[in-house]
Amino acid sequence: MNTDYENKKITIVGLGYVGLPLALAFSKKYPVVGYDINPSRIEELKKRIDQTDETNPKELHAALENGLQLTNEIEAIADATIYIVTVPTPVNENKEPDLSFLLEASKTIGSVLKSGDLVIYESTTYPGCTEEDCVPVLEKYSKLKFNHDFFCGYSPERINPGDKVNTLTKIKKVTSGSIPLIAEYVDQLYKGIIEAGTYKASSIKVAEASKAIENAQRDLNISFVNELALIFDRIGIDTREVLEAAGTKWNFLKFTPGLVGGHCISVDPYYLTHKAKELGYDPQVILSGRKINDYMPSFVAQKMVKLMGQKGIPLNQSRCLILGITFKENCPDIRNSKIPQVVRELEEYGITVYIHDSHADSNEVKRNFNIELIEELNTYDSILLAVNHKEYKDLKISELKRFSTSVVFDLKGIFPMDQVDARL
Ligand SMILES: NC(=O)c1ccc[n+]([C@@H]2O[C@H](COP(=O)([O-])OP(=O)(O)OC[C@H]3O[C@@H](n4cnc5c(N)ncnc54)[C@H](O)[C@@H]3O)[C@@H](O)[C@H]2O)c1
Repeated sequence: MNTDYENKKITIVGLGYVGLPLALAFSKKYPVVGYDINPSRIEELKKRIDQTDETNPKELHAALENGLQLTNEIEAIADATIYIVTVPTPVNENKEPDLSFLLEASKTIGSVLKSGDLVIYESTTYPGCTEEDCVPVLEKYSKLKFNHDFFCGYSPERINPGDKVNTLTKIKKVTSGSIPLIAEYVDQLYKGIIEAGTYKASSIKVAEASKAIENAQRDLNISFVNELALIFDRIGIDTREVLEAAGTKWNFLKFTPGLVGGHCISVDPYYLTHKAKELGYDPQVILSGRKINDYMPSFVAQKMVKLMGQKGIPLNQSRCLILGITFKENCPDIRNSKIPQVVRELEEYGITVYIHDSHADSNEVKRNFNIELIEELNTYDSILLAVNHKEYKDLKISELKRFSTSVVFDLKGIFPMDQVDARL
């Protein structure tokens, strides 16, 4: 067994929101090759353009000048000793884990894996996935034996897209390895780049599960306040005012209602429930939270229709402006955005919907949702303030009301209740 990775060369497989910042961080200490199957992503990055906005051109430029290599050719990653996998883990249309990216990446690595190499997975998945699903692919394509010829680790990514304060190196990182010696090695490797330190989990499964429950817990907490919003709307009180009052107690957890999109919180719980079902347990709590969060786009559309109806606006000639389509503020990520669902429901009432987003890429929005973003704002019968991008948060209510004096529905609670028609 060779665990002397002194002359280590790291390959990061998948250069998206997670992989690119990781490649940059490791490249400050070690030789790094960033590998991605998407040639246009590689070309853009070589031109110092990062569509995810997670790194800045200067940082990227410095890393490339200092030797970071970027490639979409398998031969260029053959001499690495450590492979770190950061590819997508979405769900399919039946809300079942789609492991195709993870298995394909494992196949690629398997084809170049050598005796003594280490493969660390960072993609979010269910407990057992690394050892039960990925390792057999690595073994098959490398013809090497797990925990004899090569080893694995799992260190879940915790980045928060759009957050320029809690960046990769500032968030404590969970690490693990397939044998104790490797667990310690993986831990030391990450300690070298993570200023916030690391937490060595007792096994790969524990580390995998820790990530899955992080997001499932958040999903459930949000579903609770979303359910409160559904109840308080019927009572006729503002949910955010109730939460503010309750939040004066030290142990009241601070969550706010909203649309739950994105590739993490709205997806990861299904990884955990998939595993539970596979083992004969039918999860109740986790899936009930998912059901409520999935219902929220419909509630938002219905609420908007009511607000417009109460103002006597003829719906089938009306124009509604939605501010924001990304799944969260200050980032361009539109994966699993719930806004297209809101749009579809509003359109069923004959309402013409216009969407503006100060961060989303209009070509991506067109390609994914067949929606044309608008660039200039006009006047509308209603405004749905859907994402609290800095540009929208900085608006004064008088500036916002230049675009509609009729209905302002503030999903993010940016404005006080008495300045808008409704908040979520
Ligand atoms: N983005 C986040 O905020 C975040 C946070 C925590 C965890 N995660 C998890 O990290 C993983 C990666 O997410 P992401 O947001 O970076 O995804 P992403 O879609 O931004 O990037 C993934 C990249 O992998 C590439 N890729 C796909 N298959 C490949 C293959 N076989 N070989 C090489 N490259 C391949 C894609 O071209 C893409 O550039 C997911 O499991 C996700 O759940 C993401």
